[in-house]
Amino acid sequence: MGLFRKKTVTPEPSVLPQHVGIIMDGNGRWAKKRGLPRKAGHAAGAQTFRTIAKYCEKRGIACLTVYAFSTENWRRPADEVTAIMNLLRDYLKESLSDFKQENIRVRFIGDRTPLADDLQRLMQEAEESTAHKTGMQLNIAVNYGGREEILHSVRRLAKRVADGELSPDALREEDIGGGLYTADQPELDLILRPSGEYRLSNFLLWQSAYAEYVFMDVLWPDFKPHDLDRALEEYAGRHRRFGGV
Ligand code: FPP
Repeated sequence: MGLFRKKTVTPEPSVLPQHVGIIMDGNGRWAKKRGLPRKAGHAAGAQTFRTIAKYCEKRGIACLTVYAFSTENWRRPADEVTAIMNLLRDYLKESLSDFKQENIRVRFIGDRTPLADDLQRLMQEAEESTAHKTGMQLNIAVNYGGREEILHSVRRLAKRVADGELSPDALREEDIGGGLYTADQPELDLILRPSGEYRLSNFLLWQSAYAEYVFMDVLWPDFKPHDLDRALEEYAGRHRRFGGV
């Protein structure tokens, strides 16, 4: 536990974010810099994801959400989409045994209905086999879009209104939040985006209302546990006001 002794690098647990979101960006550029196909960048990114997810658990992060594939990523060339889906498939197969050693509970967020049947089955298996875990909650966003997620929640509420169960005037923010994939989880505290881009890209739109952002100039495949520590340190120094003073 040497890392926890380095007081200058590692914040006290009380200022640890409970829920961290990561936009795993920069895989394509990482590959390009090396003259490799983009899918090689995603493969390297998937390795980084494995390392950082386990590291977050060790650091005591209660909940981690990673953006693996957005509703907009279908616009990429078919071979790149296939490569990302294959990486996900590999990870799921491997994780079914790996998860046994980890105290991580996994959930997939996003609309999984257009995904291959075997992938959907593996996702369900991973969720079911880790449902009893008490450690970190890991959300993997696949075919996820923040707007789609809000729309999905609002549509369900609209049906209840149409059925006369709910009055439009009685609708509260919690009703919308309660219909999201992350409804039972802590609020998002910190969003990390490596690769030097300063965008949210339709990630956790509702949940990020009061989140702190940390943008980092490192490409995701190069992202190391040390970079996570740096982000946590930056977060620990922020003064969160939630609209107050
Ligand atoms: C964004 O980088 C990255 C993605 C769209 C895919 C992220 C997917 C992985 C890291 C693998 C997922 C696998 C598992 C096991 C969760 P980019 O391609 O947009 O990079 P660029 O901006 O440099 O082109």
